[in-house]
Amino acid sequence: MEQKISLHDKTFRLFIPNETLEKAIDALAARLNKDYANCTDKHPALLLCTLNGAVIFTAELLKRLTFPLELKACKLSSYKGTTSTGVVTTEVPLPANIAGRRVIIVEDIVDTGTTIEALFHQLRENQVQDISVCTMFLKPEVYKKSIPLQYVALEIPNKFVVGFGLDYDELGRNTKDLYVLDI
Ligand code: IMP
Ligand code: MG
Repeated sequence: MEQKISLHDKTFRLFIPNETLEKAIDALAARLNKDYANCTDKHPALLLCTLNGAVIFTAELLKRLTFPLELKACKLSSYKGTTSTGVVTTEVPLPANIAGRRVIIVEDIVDTGTTIEALFHQLRENQVQDISVCTMFLKPEVYKKSIPLQYVALEIPNKFVVGFGLDYDELGRNTKDLYVLDI
């Protein structure tokens, strides 16, 4: 594993090794398997992967989840470079006909919560049965919203991170470990 990586104009150092990330996902998946055990083939859960950042986390979760589920994706974005813009744009809309479904939002990271709040409201407008939020990372120091975050794999400090699906201006998604901005 690389100790440092360079992306565009910045350098990032190793922060959380893959082993730690995977252990946290094991624990989270065990909780989900318990909480969604009553899903059936006729009423499967809807795992909603938020592109692009959550792809690795979603794949790791999928390998571990044992209840009936369907996989769908959507894409909202609020970040440019290393800061949140506060304005959410929808790039891939929600899947159609999701009324009555039990939705599990799979996010890479919740920062200010702007993105998750927008997605939560869009889902509610679609009359889904229930919504839970499952995120790989949470920055609790900056999360300011009231949307409940039931499943958080790891809490991290308010620092900009890349790897394990997360990007810095689209680069850096393809590492197994998590890196942090080196300053
Ligand atoms: P929020 O709307 O401020 O909660 O930001 C959430 C979105 O911003 C996430 O889905 C990520 O795509 C991106 N994001 C937030 N923090 C980071 C980070 O530290 N590294 C990379 N992307 C991030
Ligand atoms: Mg991003």
